[in-house]
Amino acid sequence: MAQRRKLIVGNWKMHGSRAANAELLSALLAGRPYLGDLAVCVPAVYLHETAAALAGSDLRWGAQDVSEHAQGAYTGEVSAAMLAEAGCRYVIVGHSERRAYHAESDELVAAKAQAALAKGVTPIVCVGETLAQREAGETETVVKRQLSAVIHRLAHCAAEMVVAYEPVWAIGTGRTASPEQAQAVHAVLRAQLHAATGRGATMKILYGGSVKPDNAATLFAQADIDGGLIGGASLKASEFIAIARAA
Ligand code: PGA
Repeated sequence: MAQRRKLIVGNWKMHGSRAANAELLSALLAGRPYLGDLAVCVPAVYLHETAAALAGSDLRWGAQDVSEHAQGAYTGEVSAAMLAEAGCRYVIVGHSERRAYHAESDELVAAKAQAALAKGVTPIVCVGETLAQREAGETETVVKRQLSAVIHRLAHCAAEMVVAYEPVWAIGTGRTASPEQAQAVHAVLRAQLHAATGRGATMKILYGGSVKPDNAATLFAQADIDGGLIGGASLKASEFIAIARAA
């Protein structure tokens, strides 16, 4: 098995304030060194402050969404070039909250991933099934369909993305996929990535959905789980650091 460095990414979602962010970021800096790579994906309005706080450290930062367009009359949107200028290493695309509340299709998610890569920002492409889909035995079909749209669009650049498997029923619910359930899906996704790119062994696939300090180690110990995308627990320095230490 190829050695893949663990990656732990905080997804702050729509949380934070200047004061709270400053405190959280300085606690993360004080908690170094971490064994794996650590990043935070913050609301766009806080990117520059985050960049200033983390500049010169080995912590990375990113955004939670990006426009599929390069520039133009798209009120409210933020382009990949703007994210690159703010020093973003990563951008989350296709989070299930965007798919659900903003009707983002597989094709739109793929276009966003492509726009990010074109500016050198690594897309963290989220895939995952709902509870109804899992119970109907459709998990594999759903995640493969979601990933396939992105693979197809990125073509020879597909190996540059990071994938995050986030079962929708596990996000923010306190209900985590068991390590075995998560590993089974990760193995499917890695096989799909490998078939498409020939580089599946080196690509990172993160798990997300109610990752906490007490379940992180067993999840991250699975063969195909290369780290986590952490929501709620990334807002508390002590929890996020404990999860990073579990990597
Ligand atoms: P959660 O969120 O850790 O709060 O479940 C994960 C995510 O939505 O990325």
